[in-house]
Amino acid sequence: MPCGIVRAVSRAHVLLLENIHVSAHEELRRNDVAVHTHSGGMQAPQLIEALRALPGEGPRMVGIRSKTRVTAEVFAAVPNLISVGAFCIGTDQIDLTAARQAGVVVFNAPFSNTRSVAELILGEVIMLSRQIFPRSTACHRGEWRKSATGSNEVRGKTIGIVGYGHIGSQLSVLAESLGLRVLYYDLVSKLPLGNARPVDSLEELLRTSDFVTLHVPDTELTRGMIGEGELACMRRGSYLLNASRGQVVDIPALREALVSEHLAGAAIDVYPAEPAKPSAPFLSELRGVESAILTPHIGGSTEEAQENIGREVGSALSSYLLHGSTSGAVNIPNLDAAPLSSGCRIVNVHRNVPGVLSAINRAVAESEVNVTGQSLGTVEDVGLLIVDLALERDELRALDLSRAIAALPTSLRTRIL
Ligand code: NAI
Repeated sequence: MPCGIVRAVSRAHVLLLENIHVSAHEELRRNDVAVHTHSGGMQAPQLIEALRALPGEGPRMVGIRSKTRVTAEVFAAVPNLISVGAFCIGTDQIDLTAARQAGVVVFNAPFSNTRSVAELILGEVIMLSRQIFPRSTACHRGEWRKSATGSNEVRGKTIGIVGYGHIGSQLSVLAESLGLRVLYYDLVSKLPLGNARPVDSLEELLRTSDFVTLHVPDTELTRGMIGEGELACMRRGSYLLNASRGQVVDIPALREALVSEHLAGAAIDVYPAEPAKPSAPFLSELRGVESAILTPHIGGSTEEAQENIGREVGSALSSYLLHGSTSGAVNIPNLDAAPLSSGCRIVNVHRNVPGVLSAINRAVAESEVNVTGQSLGTVEDVGLLIVDLALERDELRALDLSRAIAALPTSLRTRIL
């Protein structure tokens, strides 16, 4: 098989590592992909061997979670590897630049656990408001702290959401259903859901909320976003919740605000430094502060989220395999290619250099085939071109057009669908 052309006529094979949820197997099998599994992670040499050992010449895909490293060596050694699915949020374990430069498309599932995080926050809002954790711990110690003092309903209170994205806006809807008033602050202008109301500044939100909950990404602007000054702006007796990223809150300053009882409580799920493995100790200035609910970065960790991730990434891999659609890809231009109703399609990932399109178009023109659709997306040094042709796949193969395109020095990965 010539380097860089993948025969879509042969059955596609996916290698799913690290106990990926069965929903992914179902999604891929439904699309006639042969599924192979391995329960552990793999390093590059083992992964290369495993991908090469898959039967036939059809496209290969690999699904991983956090333990497997997918490096440049893998992309170079397996020319029919077309995509990698990260069945998780992060993609640090994949060399995204090398993947892009090899024309391999990488997908992940950043939003499959949105609901899980929103539900946890809502539960914690009630737990904080009723001082449930300190009272429960006291019960375990044999103490009976029965008192209404410091216990409040959440109905009619104000929750201030910082970051009105997927999680923030979902939380907004759930919080309103409990009778909370919702304010939000976002860098970008966002349409309010229900009766939620945007505020003009973080300071306004901090000054007017009973609960402040953070749902922003980790950026230069959000690192240290909540420090001593911001905590001082918050109402006396209010609560802070953070299930976004660990660097957003200055933890020693939060400890001080809790110990001095300026804040009545906090719920923290993410930390500036988190243990790399379950056996490593969890170190934090918040340990021992009774009014803080501490959870081990489990905001998005539910069985439902795992199932959603399996389905979402399984479906993205299938959609790229069958239609060339790269919607949601993290390293390649996102083209939402609809399924073909007739004819055939060439999917070509190429080096984005001057003259590349005219070389491809020349090859198409020379074959005298009618083009029915064409989409192009580029990112940095790589482009994705989808060309739909008024010709059946077997006729195209006879013309050798896809082979001519794959043979261009600029072509990285080329498939006929
Ligand atoms: P998203 O990208 O949908 O929303 C983020 C929102 O924050 C956007 O509306 C954006 O405009 C806004 N934003 C960005 N910078 C801002 C700033 N400086 N000030 C105000 N608003 C700003 O993200 P999503 O899915 O809602 O996730 C939010 C956070 O939750 C992320 O940091 C993510 O990593 C984290 N997360 C944590 C989980 C956990 O297990 N604890 C699970 C899932 C997500």
